[in-house]
Amino acid sequence: MNSYEGKAYHVVTYGCQMNVHESEKIRGILSTLGMLEIDDIEKADVVVFNTCCIREGAEDRAYNNIMALKKVKEADPNKIIVVCGCMPQQKQGKYNLKERLPFVDIIIGTHNINALAQYLLKFAINKTRIYDIIDRPIASMDTNECIRDDNINAYVNIIYGCNKFCTYCIVPYVRGREMSRQPQDIYNEVRDLVQNKGYKYITLLGQNVNSYGKDLKEPTTFSELLTYLCKIEGDFKIKFMTSHPMDFSDELIKVMKKEDKIAKALHLPVQSGSSRILEKMNRHYDIKHYMSIIKKVKRAMPNISLSTDIIVGFPGETEKDFNLTMKLLKKVKYDQVFAFMYSKRSGTPAAQFKDQIDEKEKNKRVNKLLRLQKLIQKDQIKKYFNKTYDCLIRHINGVAVGITDGGKEIYIPNYKYVNQNYFAKVKVEDIRNHKLSGEIK
Ligand code: 5AD
Ligand code: SF4
Repeated sequence: MNSYEGKAYHVVTYGCQMNVHESEKIRGILSTLGMLEIDDIEKADVVVFNTCCIREGAEDRAYNNIMALKKVKEADPNKIIVVCGCMPQQKQGKYNLKERLPFVDIIIGTHNINALAQYLLKFAINKTRIYDIIDRPIASMDTNECIRDDNINAYVNIIYGCNKFCTYCIVPYVRGREMSRQPQDIYNEVRDLVQNKGYKYITLLGQNVNSYGKDLKEPTTFSELLTYLCKIEGDFKIKFMTSHPMDFSDELIKVMKKEDKIAKALHLPVQSGSSRILEKMNRHYDIKHYMSIIKKVKRAMPNISLSTDIIVGFPGETEKDFNLTMKLLKKVKYDQVFAFMYSKRSGTPAAQFKDQIDEKEKNKRVNKLLRLQKLIQKDQIKKYFNKTYDCLIRHINGVAVGITDGGKEIYIPNYKYVNQNYFAKVKVEDIRNHKLSGEIK
């Protein structure tokens, strides 16, 4: 019995899939203390904010929401507030959290989330505020029982940290160097999720999954890991994110094509369509190389769904550079584009670059780019006609739907069965009002 037994917790998450999954681990930790999750943040005995600092907007949102809890804490001093993740881990963050959040009881970073139970128990005894930011992990991040958000798709970490140091990016500073998990540990986790827990998609997570295994005692490539995981028996598919074009190998394309268990969807961030800007970003590839990967991928898997990340308004980006990015979108015809305005992150090299772009200009460019992508996507729908996709069959609002690897829904009006959550081939036979419909083949 501990003082948290039977109490209520609430976790607020900001940021990427990595953070979403870390919050699943946090929920696992809190439940092992005997706590229960509730939706009402104001009624929770313990509130955890798992923060993100990739862009200023993410930080501001988290900061404002934490501040909004100040009054609640004043009215109920026994409420415990925890702030963790990327924001506190920054050395030169916009907000000095230690000073600006005096009402927060526990502030930890990215490397000690796994010790949250110990921090909470210590706090229950000493009742003194804890501020502990450390530079290296104190325990393996693998050991927790997670409480997952979703029962169809499960996130599984394969590599932590990043060694790339793109000049705009704060991630290498807040998440440390690359550290791969052992293939056997990943295999065991995936097998359990598929065979005992019924998950249909496994999404392998890393800042740069293509670097997987380089740091292991017995080096293993990402392609080898995928081949190994595909040996797991069961009706499931593997997705992965995020890939870096520099490390994206021909071997990986071969494995993706060959293995039915690998989803035919690829998120391959390009960041900019201008090789000049890519160099300033320290991305280690140019557009010629990027396009050669896209070409090979499309040739090997014509039905593949492609998505990317773009940063608009990187320091020194001219109208000409921006137009090269627009041109790239027209050429590749992505199924989805995540476009961000460049956000200055202190401590990164690009924050020191002299030729910063005006916010208004960035805004103008990002909107122009998103408008173009909207048109491209609208037009892209035609490509589905008469093609057959391996889909997960689901019932949505009483209607059977096949979901492609890229997340596109194909309605199946003539579906005669009651079962769902299995993979089947669905052929698109009609497109009306931007909606696809078809039949199981
Ligand atoms: N400003 C804007 N976008 C950024 N990203 C990373 N750092 C920044 C930044 N400073 C984007 C990149 C990356 C995605 C996760 O976030 O496009 O791929
Ligand atoms: Fe950031 Fe670049 Fe690493 Fe991605 S690869 S996390 S953008 S430094």
